[in-house]
Amino acid sequence: MIGKGTITTRVNHGATGDRGTMLWFTGLSGSGKSTLASAVRDCLITLGHASYVIDGDSIRQGLCADLGFSRTDRAENIRRVGEAANLLVDAGLIVLTACISPFRDDRARVRAMFNPSEYVEIYCSASLSVCEARDVKGLYAKARRGVIKEFTGISSPYEPPLEADLCVDAGLQDVEKSIAAIMVLLIERSVI
Ligand code: ADX
Repeated sequence: MIGKGTITTRVNHGATGDRGTMLWFTGLSGSGKSTLASAVRDCLITLGHASYVIDGDSIRQGLCADLGFSRTDRAENIRRVGEAANLLVDAGLIVLTACISPFRDDRARVRAMFNPSEYVEIYCSASLSVCEARDVKGLYAKARRGVIKEFTGISSPYEPPLEADLCVDAGLQDVEKSIAAIMVLLIERSVI
């Protein structure tokens, strides 16, 4: 049951046969969070585990469409994503979120919504130079020109996790190895 931001008991276990779990991906734009989260989701579904990806880019089209990228708006974005994920975890899903979530205290607030055994933080640690060189969406170039303000890594900070459960570098490591590392962690933690 969820109320007042604290979890008392998880009531819906059994609906999926899984222990609901939160996999929180954090990292710069272009660090591979969405690609990796979707790939892990596909593996989990193939193995029969109900899983769902909440992606920053898509949730900002709907639930968080009223929010921008100021410090306050990012905090609210992360809070809403955390709360939405928490409902799905309560329903027994393995939820994978792919948001930059650049600020440590916002991430800590989300972590506090979950029981420690339910929460896994995965840091996609590709460097700014790698993400900027890729610039898949052309946003880094716009940020450098000042067309986009408060862009993470350029004109707004990214605070790397100090104690991530797992660190993967999509810049250096191929995606298959990152997927494998996550799946091994989920087995070690008895999530799957
Ligand atoms: S977060 O900081 O609040 O966690 P979120 O992950 O939801 O960010 O959204 C990030 C995505 O929004 C980026 O991948 C990028 O496509 C887009 N974006 C647009 N403006 C910015 C900005 N100023 N800073 C970072 N990302 C931005």
